[in-house]
Amino acid sequence: MEPVRIAIVGAGNRGRGYSDYCLQHPEAGRVVAVAEPRAEFRERIVRDWDLSESRVFSDWAGLAEESCLADAVIIATPDGMHVAPGLAFSDLGYAVLMEKPVSSDFDECRELVATMERNGTIFAVCHVLRYTPYTRLLKRVLDEERWIGRVIGIQHLEPVGFWHQAHSFVRGNWRNTAMSSPMLLGKSCHDLDWLSYLVGSRCEAVTSFGELLHFRPENAPAGAADRCVDCAVERDCPYSAIRIYVDRVRSGETGWPVNVLVEAPDEASVWAAIRTGPYGRCVYACDNDVVDHQVVSLRFTSGATATFTMSGFTEMRPRETRIFGTAGEGWCDGRRVEVYSFQTGVRSVLEVEAHDGAISSGHGGGDAGVMAAFLDAVRRGDPSGLLSGGRATLESHTMVYAAERARLEDRVVRLAEFPGMR
Ligand SMILES: NC(=O)c1ccc[n+]([C@@H]2O[C@H](COP(=O)([O-])OP(=O)(O)OC[C@H]3O[C@@H](n4cnc5c(N)ncnc54)[C@H](O)[C@@H]3O)[C@@H](O)[C@H]2O)c1
Repeated sequence: MEPVRIAIVGAGNRGRGYSDYCLQHPEAGRVVAVAEPRAEFRERIVRDWDLSESRVFSDWAGLAEESCLADAVIIATPDGMHVAPGLAFSDLGYAVLMEKPVSSDFDECRELVATMERNGTIFAVCHVLRYTPYTRLLKRVLDEERWIGRVIGIQHLEPVGFWHQAHSFVRGNWRNTAMSSPMLLGKSCHDLDWLSYLVGSRCEAVTSFGELLHFRPENAPAGAADRCVDCAVERDCPYSAIRIYVDRVRSGETGWPVNVLVEAPDEASVWAAIRTGPYGRCVYACDNDVVDHQVVSLRFTSGATATFTMSGFTEMRPRETRIFGTAGEGWCDGRRVEVYSFQTGVRSVLEVEAHDGAISSGHGGGDAGVMAAFLDAVRRGDPSGLLSGGRATLESHTMVYAAERARLEDRVVRLAEFPGMR
């Protein structure tokens, strides 16, 4: 079978990663067009795939003016810029792989999913956690009743990591709700989606609390300046941009998050970026407004409950989950699943198979997993292997919309409040 022909829309961090996946799996996918406004990011794709000028665009709308140039499009534009290209490329006949979140608006999300269904588009959203070997293992454990039995409750923690919080949600692209989306949608839509997948029944009600408590001007230490390069107390600050970016590049780390600042990082270019760019700002002097901690409680139609905690005040590490069942209790940390059996008192440890290099281990193998499943679905013309299609995404995005409504209105929100959801 021929590799799937792909157009990349938005060749930033995510778009570049999907292109790199195809470089490593040439039998599965081949990039034949790109739409990206930033010249250095666009040029890298052009070089990697030797694209002719007629296949290169500085804006998704330019690509959408042409007739269909590829079998599939990957939409990896910033938050708030997914629905319009999604509708346009579906109408043109492309299969669509779309980065999350679809939209911060319920009606828009529902309309998009309806259009994809009407057009018969092969469509998936990059809820990459569903595709990891770890999730596959955990799902198998839950499906085999002998381990945990019926799921009664789940306690799930997303330890965002203190420097990751500073990088993405204080200084970076996801810092401001109006410019991107609420934290729960921008970051944790993965977690609510994952919980709904694990529990396997529909969520019926949620409540939530959370706020921006720390990264505010009144918490700046005495002596702080607006930029880390001018700051008298920079060496005492765990969120220092010099610490997060310059120290990293000095020790030879040039991947994420440093490559978000400049396409080809070295010490000089990173210094230049933090002297003038957004990533050199003091964390107490940014235009951020997304929460730095949030909790959500959920009730499912099966009667199971779940609690979710997102915190920016942690060491950077994988998510941690406890599962409470009628036959046993599970502890899960992204690498292994430990189960205690009530019947035998035996603790069993199930390890996830090790996965290889950087790209395929992105998000614990989920980035590679979603690409493999999507390209396979397009090649076969059969979406049955996609775990994160339109309906599943609408369901779990609605859990997020409901939780945000609950947080802002300080109340319990039922999913039935959203038209057509029950
Ligand atoms: N699935 C995941 O786990 C995951 C992880 C991180 C980010 N994301 C999501 O992926 C999306 C992209 O994130 P990113 O980190 O790659 O951001 P990014 O800023 O690195 O990349 C976005 C790219 O889109 C380009 N762009 C802007 N306007 C455009 C237009 N009109 N036409 C074409 N391209 C345009 C930008 O120039 C930029 O290069 C976001 O929505 C983000 O929330 C998903």
